[in-house]
Amino acid sequence: MSVLPTAELHLHIEGTLEPELIFALAGRNGIELPYADVEELRRQYQFADLQSFLNLYYDNMAVLQTEQDFADMTRAYLARAQAAGVRHAEIMMDPQAHLSRGISLATCVNGVASALAGSEEELGISTELIAAFLRDEPAEEALAVLEQLLAMEAPIIGIGLDSAEVGHPPRDFVALYERAHEAGLKCIAHAGEEGPPEYIREALDLLKVARIDHGIRCMEDEELVQRLAAEQTPLTVCPLSNVRLRAVDTLADHPLPRMLERGLNVSVNSDDPAYFGGYVDDNFIQLQSVFSFDDDQLAQLAANSVRSAFITDARRRELL
Ligand code: HPA
Ligand code: ZN
Repeated sequence: MSVLPTAELHLHIEGTLEPELIFALAGRNGIELPYADVEELRRQYQFADLQSFLNLYYDNMAVLQTEQDFADMTRAYLARAQAAGVRHAEIMMDPQAHLSRGISLATCVNGVASALAGSEEELGISTELIAAFLRDEPAEEALAVLEQLLAMEAPIIGIGLDSAEVGHPPRDFVALYERAHEAGLKCIAHAGEEGPPEYIREALDLLKVARIDHGIRCMEDEELVQRLAAEQTPLTVCPLSNVRLRAVDTLADHPLPRMLERGLNVSVNSDDPAYFGGYVDDNFIQLQSVFSFDDDQLAQLAANSVRSAFITDARRRELL
């Protein structure tokens, strides 16, 4: 299978923290981990659901202390993404998860941004940064953090909404998204990963998002499928993530082929590749082993990622 140029639109930079780097950063920062070695840490990577993953994901962030740590994590992702054929990446980070540990916004934002700055020239990967807000924390806190990001002129192009979905509907974040729209930011949100189709509708109608992260549970709602297809709303699907977090039983049960058949604007993304068994190329390879997509379908998936990216028309033409 040739590696098609793709845009990666659904990626949490903290989810690229590989076990080896976790141990290296822990050593550098004098942090004692509750695991004897990399293998013992890796053995923890078996998840029953989204929350069981999030617990480990937030725990492991303890090793991220300095700007250099954030930059090293980001550089490691970019190098691996280049090998995966990624030509453009829109990267989410979780500022609240660092603020709550006493790490300043400047440390996490500047660390990630410094690594992104050279990526187009050095690796041929254009990048954008998106601040994601934790939906299981108070909406007022998210709004306060957005105000701080705006005040410091953080180099973000947009906002997202992530963390535990069920019980934390998009309607709770209307004020946050109104402020983001007013500030000229792009708006996206996780919806329909574990949460019901109604959350996808709310993200569209109340938060007025341009893309839905995941969105796979739209398939339970025929009217919603028809709307998403008609409007060509981008759905950034993450097949290996859905398997690892038990949103689907096996990859063979994944709705991606049916979503393509219904004309939905779906792309393939890695979400938290260090935790879910692979990067974008691994996602494509495993999809191919199960579904044997033809060249047209593979090209469609790659083209969907490029046409759904927040890039200039000139850059889009380069990537298509
Ligand atoms: N879903 C929701 N929140 C997240 C995820 C995810 O897959 N990864 C990091 N935060
Ligand atoms: Zn995600």
